[in-house]
Amino acid sequence: MSAADERARWSTLLPQTPIRFAPDFAWGVASSAFQAEGGDVPNDWVEAARAGRVPPNPGNGFWTRGEEDLRLVASLGLRHYRMSVEWSRVEPERGRFDASALDHYRALCDAAAAAGVTPWVNLFHFTHPRWVAESGGLLAIANRDAFLRYVEHVGRALAPHARHFHVSNESMVYVLTAYLMGVNPPFVQDATSAFTMTRHVLALHADAHRILKALVPQPTVATIEVYLDARPEDPADALQRQAAERFDAWYHGTLLEALATGWIRLPGREPEEIPHLRGALDLYGFNYYNATSFGAQGPGSWSDLADPPVDGMRRRVFPGGLEDGLVRVATALPGVPLLVTENGCPTDDETFRIRYLASHFAALDRARARGADVRGYFHWTAVDNYEWHEGFGAHARFGLIGFDPATQERSVKRSGRWLAEVISRSVLDPAGVP
Ligand code: BGC
Repeated sequence: MSAADERARWSTLLPQTPIRFAPDFAWGVASSAFQAEGGDVPNDWVEAARAGRVPPNPGNGFWTRGEEDLRLVASLGLRHYRMSVEWSRVEPERGRFDASALDHYRALCDAAAAAGVTPWVNLFHFTHPRWVAESGGLLAIANRDAFLRYVEHVGRALAPHARHFHVSNESMVYVLTAYLMGVNPPFVQDATSAFTMTRHVLALHADAHRILKALVPQPTVATIEVYLDARPEDPADALQRQAAERFDAWYHGTLLEALATGWIRLPGREPEEIPHLRGALDLYGFNYYNATSFGAQGPGSWSDLADPPVDGMRRRVFPGGLEDGLVRVATALPGVPLLVTENGCPTDDETFRIRYLASHFAALDRARARGADVRGYFHWTAVDNYEWHEGFGAHARFGLIGFDPATQERSVKRSGRWLAEVISRSVLDPAGVP
């Protein structure tokens, strides 16, 4: 395809007029501990890699270069850094907490502050210590108790150094991929377990929220979920429509109702009320990548265009899902501010990444015009990192910053410089979009 044809694919998605951002709009980046640090840690993903089920993860060097990354990010005008704590480093064996690991994360929070960057600490991003995985995962009550002890431990250690916390990244995706689709550890494919786990992750969120609120001075404790805009591939197909609706009712329906009311309603189960789940969030962390289609061949990605741009992981670009999703969450949770806690695309083409960002900023702006109180935007990710099923493949790089695998030396990409310019001017100028 010619460059002009590729540009034409984006024509209806890119902004036509300047988009302005308030000076206090929170610009940041998001990452997760295991994806950036990698290494031979005692967790379930390392075990899965040993078994050949997922790619190995040498990391991008963040464990040793974290402070340098924070300074680099700050130099681009990005003032917020969403990181996570790797549970298996902090508690490598049940009940044995490693003080040096906690010191490391504490130092990282302090380094962020020294660089003028606010740390946002997430406590669970898909990976479990091996001892949790080997003893029934979070389906086992002893492990759910252990998770809450870990939350308390980390909250206590980091509280004076960080004040923004997330209990978990994308609990619903965790349930979906690990317990319903069976593609992530512990590779379970069972609706009953998935519904049980849905209940558990929501209850854990409520409990952990309460723990962190009591420990941290002036805390923000936020949830994070990815918006999966579910669409039938063929709207005339009743089965596909039904599949998309049922998915949405479980995934967004259960979640938003639970956060708004404290009631958990799952198919085939008695409704359960967890009173302290109602309003258990100071902010809603909204992740978005693309829309999901339900088609004859199973799930895929969806766009309203016949010939949309397609990212490095073969996903159709659909910024409209960001707009509609933000408005939907804002309506379901009135009074709760929103933060885009992840958005970005896998590609090795910097023109593509800049267009992807510009088209999603336009969608974010439309959502604000429709009343969504969006306080900021965190890009996934800073330095290219491990993408769960793709490893470090060139097609699966989400970073604004690349690195040399031999030397781990960082280099800011064209998209990083473009975003720095948007941030410094507080304006996205359509003329600056290639
Ligand atoms: C996850 C990240 C992942 C990203 C890109 C998000 O849903 O939180 O861990 O790397 O998607 O696939």
